[in-house]
Amino acid sequence: MCGIVGYIGTQPAYDILLQGLRRLEYRGYDSAGVALMKDDGSLNVYKATGKVANLELTASGKDTDGSIGIAHTRWATHGEPTDINAHPHLSQSGDIALVHNGTIENYAVLREALTQHGYTFKSETDTEVLVQLIEYIKEKNHCYLFDAVREALKQVEGAYAIAVIERGNPSRLIAARKSSPLVIGIGEGETFIASDATPIVGFTDKVIYLKDNEIAIVEQGKPLQIKSLNSNKPSSINIQKLQLSVAQLEKGGYDAFMLKEIFEQPNTLTDCIRGRIVDGGSRVVLSGVVENAEKFRYANRIIIVACGTSWHAALIGKRLIQEMCQLPVEVEYASEFRYGCPIITPRDIVVAISQSGETADTLAAIQLAKEKGAFVYGICNVVGASIPRNTDSGTYIHVGPEIGVASTKAFTGQVTVLTLLALCAGQIRGTVSTDTVRKIGRALINMPKTIKEVLKLNEPIKDLSRIFTYSHNFLYLGRGYNYPTALEGALKLKEISYIHAEGYPAAEMKHGPIALIDNEMPTVIIAPSDSLYDKIVSNVQQVKSRGGSVIAIVNKGNDSMNELADYCLQIPEVPECLTPIVSSIPLQLLAYYIAVNKGKDVDRPRNLAKSVTVE
Ligand code: M6R
Repeated sequence: MCGIVGYIGTQPAYDILLQGLRRLEYRGYDSAGVALMKDDGSLNVYKATGKVANLELTASGKDTDGSIGIAHTRWATHGEPTDINAHPHLSQSGDIALVHNGTIENYAVLREALTQHGYTFKSETDTEVLVQLIEYIKEKNHCYLFDAVREALKQVEGAYAIAVIERGNPSRLIAARKSSPLVIGIGEGETFIASDATPIVGFTDKVIYLKDNEIAIVEQGKPLQIKSLNSNKPSSINIQKLQLSVAQLEKGGYDAFMLKEIFEQPNTLTDCIRGRIVDGGSRVVLSGVVENAEKFRYANRIIIVACGTSWHAALIGKRLIQEMCQLPVEVEYASEFRYGCPIITPRDIVVAISQSGETADTLAAIQLAKEKGAFVYGICNVVGASIPRNTDSGTYIHVGPEIGVASTKAFTGQVTVLTLLALCAGQIRGTVSTDTVRKIGRALINMPKTIKEVLKLNEPIKDLSRIFTYSHNFLYLGRGYNYPTALEGALKLKEISYIHAEGYPAAEMKHGPIALIDNEMPTVIIAPSDSLYDKIVSNVQQVKSRGGSVIAIVNKGNDSMNELADYCLQIPEVPECLTPIVSSIPLQLLAYYIAVNKGKDVDRPRNLAKSVTVE
């Protein structure tokens, strides 16, 4: 959460920083701020509560000169979203400006100690404590900013990615990270700092992913220096090529990123499976699995850790792996796993799923699993993020940048990769037949076409959404492979329309939730013609006989459901294990249009951030 950007070079910093903030806004939009230093060393700071657009209004007509600056978009942790709590924070003298993503866990102790030394605080944030601590150390030790930052960071517990500038020194910027991401972009005579690579795209394709406990000195006209927090020896600099384009970061004519990302799914799934299904569909090659064939062959158990939508994908992965690999699978919320005294043995494989690759709880779960000797496999979207860099092996889902806070194309990409993983590992273990692989492999190859068919439901779903815009509660039911789809459909609706929604295994409904059903509570039932279809028909009947209205997702040609359900959305038939990919798309569209009808900011739902980098 929180996005930080920094620039030092020859161009006006303000425009670059603002554009960077707009691209990082998915990380938080409680407030935004910028600190700019002019060539004469004077510093201007502007802040505004709310979105980056408010910052632009605040800074409009003011002095925004300077070719060095730092900027921040905030997801509030310590202190309410106010102008005062917005970053950049300044030290007591006003000489040092700092932006921060992360959480300083021992901030209260540090604040108390600094107060004893005469420091006063304007904000309630943990970040202000850090900038004051830097100034305190700098004055006490009569040292340079770099040494003071380094010393201060040694005293800090928690997570941080920071960028710091100092009044009077318009040619130097200091950046550092621990457990929060930070990318450095190397341009021609200019350097960029950002929480992820998106603000850098279009300026340079040369990037460096700072490692934990590294600190960078970015000096205009001099080569970049990176050191470890505990040593003066320069660290090696690994410049990587960025594979992102500006077009991928824009809405491309859609009203919202979420809608664009829903409609991208035929293409993203093409990218996701590219080169991974061979021999006419009858063999799956996932390099991370093949290269570690022995691990998968002799594994005792797989534990999947994830959060949110990725956790829903994990539940589908559990069924897939159990079915194809005959291997027990447990699925854990990363946040529960890490504190649940997990029993992990070296023959366990821990699979971590994360779109962003930066989710704090998932990262911590990986760390724990590694300490206990497990082989850790990551399934991520963002290339070069912390999770892929901290796992033993893994697979990228390759669905391109997902900017809408509500995850859509990442979910279908994750389920696709989990299907490939289950098939590939099943082949290695000899637990899946070639016929099964061929059937599913071919259906996956055909999936982009199938999804194009599903997307034809866009207009009917838009119409349907109007009927339910003002419902206060929703129930989502599914069975088997589609119980997690029901959870995912409910999460989509909750997070962008703020309507209370619950996902339930359909058969469990009669053990409690059925009491909620009345004519004001719509129920969405995912009912493809699979092995559990007859059972789910009974669930539809149970809802109807209590006066509830039913929206049913059924297969094409299933007209008999029209007799029972109030509204039917027909989707193409695919093998049972692939039904979540197909049936989740109408649910994404339904949530999207209901939120739009309610006038909500779909891409930036209240209180949420795209990647949850704090506990
Ligand atoms: O980046 P991750 O996949 O690790 O993120 C996990 C969740 O924070 C994320 O899926 C969240 O639930 C989404 N907003 C759901 O749409």
